[in-house]
Amino acid sequence: MGNADNTGEMHDLFNRTAKSYDQSGVEFFGPIGRRLVEFSEISAGNSVLDIGSGRGAALFPAAEIVGEKGEVVGVDISEEMVKYAQEDVRERGLGHVAVSVMNGQRPEFDEGRFDAVIGSCSLFIWVKSADDVTPYLRVLRQGGRFATAAPSFFSTARGKWSLFPEIVNELLMPYMLQSLKQSGAYDSQFANAGANWLATPESIEKTLVEAGFVDVVVREEDLPVVVNSGEQWVEFTYTTGMRGMWERIEEKERAEVVAEVSRRLDTLRDENGLITVPVPIVYIRANAAKA
Ligand SMILES: C[S@@+](CC[C@H](N)C(=O)[O-])C[C@H]1O[C@@H](n2cnc3c(N)ncnc32)[C@H](O)[C@@H]1O
Repeated sequence: MGNADNTGEMHDLFNRTAKSYDQSGVEFFGPIGRRLVEFSEISAGNSVLDIGSGRGAALFPAAEIVGEKGEVVGVDISEEMVKYAQEDVRERGLGHVAVSVMNGQRPEFDEGRFDAVIGSCSLFIWVKSADDVTPYLRVLRQGGRFATAAPSFFSTARGKWSLFPEIVNELLMPYMLQSLKQSGAYDSQFANAGANWLATPESIEKTLVEAGFVDVVVREEDLPVVVNSGEQWVEFTYTTGMRGMWERIEEKERAEVVAEVSRRLDTLRDENGLITVPVPIVYIRANAAKA
């Protein structure tokens, strides 16, 4: 079971990140959220629960598809994320969307309440086993849809974290592992690289079937992340959960690592001065069994 009672680290990290989250000008969470909603095949009139909704990368595309006859409920553990998302909901005048603070590991809703449960770049943080997914099955109606997106873990068995460009992977991986070890929040998804439920399409399917889902579909797709400099890539990572890694590096060493990461990435510039980093994202969908 993911550490349901030890959410403080993530709560604080995402509260600190919320203001700049996904606002760096680098397209990342937006395209993933839109693709997840498309991949989930939710439709007009559906009632959708978005777990770890953040600033709404999946919430708003879902709201558009379900329309006013449907509803989208977003929950997030970070009050700051919820505050910004609520402001956005108000500004857009979306009466069929509600966002509130809740631990998404234990969604407090009636059994069978939703047609779909989605989570973009969120559930992978704490889901470790079939037991961690069963709370989503409980709030889904029979035949309802579960869909989630995550940075792909297929490369972790060979020591590669999907979000790191190949050219800086070896340099940053020790810092990432150290940070995850120190965080003491959710267990490291890297600790047992290869044994992690997200390590292969087969282990994903096995976990979801064990939880009681059927018709599992797993798809890995590259998202091209485009930045205009190595420095911009570092800035972008600061506006994501990777901020936790940077913050744990001692200041002087951090400046050196940032300079080296920027230097290496700058060697990848194309003729237009842009650097394109393909980031593999895994999209997963399944259905709650029908009676
Ligand atoms: C990487 S962000 C993704 C946000 C959004 N879905 C998106 O795609 O932009 C992960 C989100 O999960 C939230 N989160 C982390 N642990 C959580 C928990 N136990 N329950 C609910 N939300 C959680 C964080 O606050 C953060 O907003």
